[in-house]
Amino acid sequence: MAPGGRRCVFVPTMGALHAGHASLVRKGAAISKERNLSDGCIVSIFVNPTQFNEQTDFARYPKTIEADLQLCAEAGAAVVYMPSVKDVYPDNELVEIPVLPGVAHQPSLEDAFRSGHFAGVCQVVKRLFDLVRPLAAVFGEKDWQQLQVIRAMTRELRYPIDIIPGETIRETGGLAMSSRNVFLLPDDRRAALAISQALCDSWSAASPKDAERVMRDVLASANLQPEYAVVRHAETLIASATGPWRALVAVKVGNVRLIDNAEWRHA
Ligand code: PAJ
Repeated sequence: MAPGGRRCVFVPTMGALHAGHASLVRKGAAISKERNLSDGCIVSIFVNPTQFNEQTDFARYPKTIEADLQLCAEAGAAVVYMPSVKDVYPDNELVEIPVLPGVAHQPSLEDAFRSGHFAGVCQVVKRLFDLVRPLAAVFGEKDWQQLQVIRAMTRELRYPIDIIPGETIRETGGLAMSSRNVFLLPDDRRAALAISQALCDSWSAASPKDAERVMRDVLASANLQPEYAVVRHAETLIASATGPWRALVAVKVGNVRLIDNAEWRHA
């Protein structure tokens, strides 16, 4: 990357923005003010085709541009950058996929169920970093593995970008906000409450293995079979006898795939 980044905090998104995104933008705006960054908080909206492994998921990804622009303005964004596919992936330019960090390939987590997903995420985030050249970027803890992958990628590329985490914003009842929640039918929305419940109840367990069993039981009581419900090392995402730990869940509720996570500690 060329030296001398833009004096801004960057918040990359795929649009269909909700209160979770708004909190990242508010955080980006506050940090840019604190650090006196004259370009403020820059939000990008780009539905990245290379990170979807199901074309139907890409095609039906919700689009709410007018509301998104209003949310960004209210949350304090200085600029909303909405590149086209050609801007991000020009025909005559090879937009390479960086070498994926180890944390992208943890067996049984996202990479096992969404093959190629992190290759697409790293490709677009590196590209957006090159285009925007921010001094800092905010990523949500909601996508915990993505946050660790981006941290590791930024370190390996030696990009001078400070990766800042933003806490997960939840609906009343505990369901983590997600652009895909609009596809949940009423019964599914009720069942989905078991996800945050499972994460909460896992705190009663005495070991990571026990916590995994508690989470599976809570999910099963709502008739949910998780793709994974595990406790891993919070940074490497490898199964570990020592903390810090993170409890992570992925589960299909109706035809919507939901993910969530929380810190985990011994009872
Ligand atoms: P998207 O799903 O739009 O999410 C944009 C950012 O919002 C991510 O950093 C995500 O972790 C965060 N986010 C989502 N739900 C949240 C919630 N409930 N609370 C707090 N933050 C939340 O993640 C992506 O887009 C893409 O992979 C992207 C990084 C933009 C690359 O295409």
